[in-house]
Amino acid sequence: MAIPSFLFLSVSASVASAWWLSVMLVAAASGGGEDGGDCSPKKCGNLTISPPFWISQRRQTDRACGIRDFMVDCNVSTGVATLASSTKNGFRIFNLSYGERSLLVMDAHKVDDLTSPTNCHTPTWNTSAKLGFPFKISPANRNLVFYNCTAKPPDAAERRELELVETICLHNSFARLGGSYNNRSNMDEYSLEGCIATFLPVLLKPGGATNATGYLDLIRGGFLMTWELPSHPSEASEASEESVGYGDHLIIV
Ligand SMILES: *[C@@H]1O[C@H](CO)[C@@H](O)[C@H](O)[C@H]1NC(C)=O
Ligand SMILES: *[C@@H]1O[C@H](CO)[C@@H](O)[C@H](O)[C@H]1NC(C)=O
Ligand SMILES: *[C@@H]1O[C@H](CO)[C@@H](O)[C@H](O)[C@H]1NC(C)=O
Ligand SMILES: *[C@@H]1O[C@H](CO)[C@@H](O)[C@H](O)[C@H]1NC(C)=O
Ligand SMILES: *[C@@H]1O[C@H](CO)[C@@H](O)[C@H](O)[C@H]1NC(C)=O
Ligand SMILES: *[C@@H]1O[C@H](CO)[C@@H](O)[C@H](O)[C@H]1NC(C)=O
Ligand SMILES: *[C@@H]1O[C@H](CO)[C@@H](O)[C@H](O)[C@H]1NC(C)=O
Repeated sequence: MAIPSFLFLSVSASVASAWWLSVMLVAAASGGGEDGGDCSPKKCGNLTISPPFWISQRRQTDRACGIRDFMVDCNVSTGVATLASSTKNGFRIFNLSYGERSLLVMDAHKVDDLTSPTNCHTPTWNTSAKLGFPFKISPANRNLVFYNCTAKPPDAAERRELELVETICLHNSFARLGGSYNNRSNMDEYSLEGCIATFLPVLLKPGGATNATGYLDLIRGGFLMTWELPSHPSEASEASEESVGYGDHLIIV
């Protein structure tokens, strides 16, 4: 059997483990172009989806080509790739860098929330709450904070000082562009009395926005995540609540 080159890549990666290698070997060994499809890299729109990512056709006969966290849904008519472990949450993949283990994604539902003509509301989930191992939100992002102020709306001086931008949803809801995205210190630094705060990472273009005025475009521009290869199956199964067990469905030998 010809051994695909990605195997050598994963072997040379420092975090690659015997477990990971065995996953890939199983995937490679079963990739044969039968009804489930093969496991070679595939195009989705402009993107090449290569291991550890793999495209699921979501058919019963599908063979698994990796672990579920890296499963990608591809809409063949639009060429839009979505991280499948987040399908309900809808992270659209704009770009992937296999060398840097990073990907640029957009949290599509956040835009839907803020533009809904009938139920306009600020995001109700922190982006970090929808992500876990093997993904990490990069500190290269900035922190875009949304406030839903129900108890005590900030006064004019506070709005000016914090550069709060009222959102199109109105009703004392505001956006604010914070500093570098830091998943741990977010809460204290950005909390505002009487308001529920939600944190979204956004990747600014060089020389880009200095305030939250263009918050929709900032969200649409996406944010940067990095990934790690799991060193042990249990780590990965903790990652997403919906992920299926390894032995059960993922690796079909
Ligand atoms: C692909 O995207 C189009 C346009 O958004 C949508 O109408 C269609 O239902 C999608 N197809 C699948 C299989 O999700
Ligand atoms: C593919 O790339 C072209 C040119 O960069 C861009 O206009 C187009 O929107 C991209 N398509 C998708 C599905 O991302
Ligand atoms: C996509 O990633 C490649 C490689 O990292 C980079 O050169 C390119 O500029 C990126 N494109 C976008 C639209 O971010
Ligand atoms: C603020 O929160 C309340 C209670 O959760 C919700 O009903 C309302 O739609 C939210 N307002 C905005 C603008 O998001
Ligand atoms: C956010 O931080 C927590 C605690 O430090 C960590 O467990 C979690 O994986 C982080 N989430 C992301 C998406 O980086
Ligand atoms: C977002 O995260 C912060 C800090 O972890 C937390 O205090 C806040 O309640 C979260 N917001 C929502 C809407 O869950
Ligand atoms: C916010 O940024 C825009 C450009 O993105 C700028 O035109 C505007 O003056 C800024 N607003 C404030 C209050 O600084």
